[in-house]
Amino acid sequence: MAQTRQPLKDDSRPYEPAKGPALRRVTAGAIKRRKGSTIVPMVTAYDAPFGRFAEEAGIDWILVGDSLGNVVLGFDETTPVTMDDMVHHTAAVVRGTSRAHIIADMPFGSYQVSDEEAVRNAIRLVKEGGAMSIKLEGGSDVAARIRSIYRAGIPVVGHIGITPQTAGLGPGYRMRTHRDRLLEDALAVESAGAYAIVLEVVDFEIARELTEKLSILTIGIGSGPHCDSQVLVLHDVLGMYPNSPPFARRFAEIGADTVNALRDYASAVKEGEFPTT
Ligand code: KIV
Repeated sequence: MAQTRQPLKDDSRPYEPAKGPALRRVTAGAIKRRKGSTIVPMVTAYDAPFGRFAEEAGIDWILVGDSLGNVVLGFDETTPVTMDDMVHHTAAVVRGTSRAHIIADMPFGSYQVSDEEAVRNAIRLVKEGGAMSIKLEGGSDVAARIRSIYRAGIPVVGHIGITPQTAGLGPGYRMRTHRDRLLEDALAVESAGAYAIVLEVVDFEIARELTEKLSILTIGIGSGPHCDSQVLVLHDVLGMYPNSPPFARRFAEIGADTVNALRDYASAVKEGEFPTT
């Protein structure tokens, strides 16, 4: 006898996932839907406490940038940063947060060789680091890499304008003003599947035009006020790095405050004021 299937009731769901920590995270899709509403602030973080501080400040998408090389590891460039470094620091930021969406940068050398190697390294950032998205630098030249990573199921953020990993090849750290080239690159990144794109030191009017033309979020850094989101390096925001770029603003002087606190501690010890009996 033929069995008739009972239709599901309107309010019933065939599968109700447990509300574990991963499900409390802001998703790439939720961030993408913010385009055109309020400007979304982003900051970098490299360890658990500062990830937590950013989240407590209401910043719910955090980039573990390969600026790690400059501001934490003491290099002059980002190029020496390794996959192991990125996995290690991404995992720390993930442990320090519970709700924020964590994006991990793909370091130089991790995606240049082939699509396959790029996918393998992106998967490492997700599986071992706990990243929810990855970011990589480049425009049309990396469209195939973006497409492969996206097809592997990993949300991708692009990055054009100044691309520090290859700054030595082009006009260095000067503002990018070639409209047609920037537009072509941004569209290539978008059609390859990225859901957002960093515009680093791009002419303000071009950044405005890209923000209007693209369906994905633009994340400005030194590219003026017309982007969907703004990002700054944590150590620039907090005054912890001596070589901040001119477009950054210091919202605190944690570097100087730290020196003063340590000076007070050292003199309290030397003068027998600390510890007390
Ligand atoms: O590495 C980084 O911190 C970055 C931002 C400057 C966008 O790529």
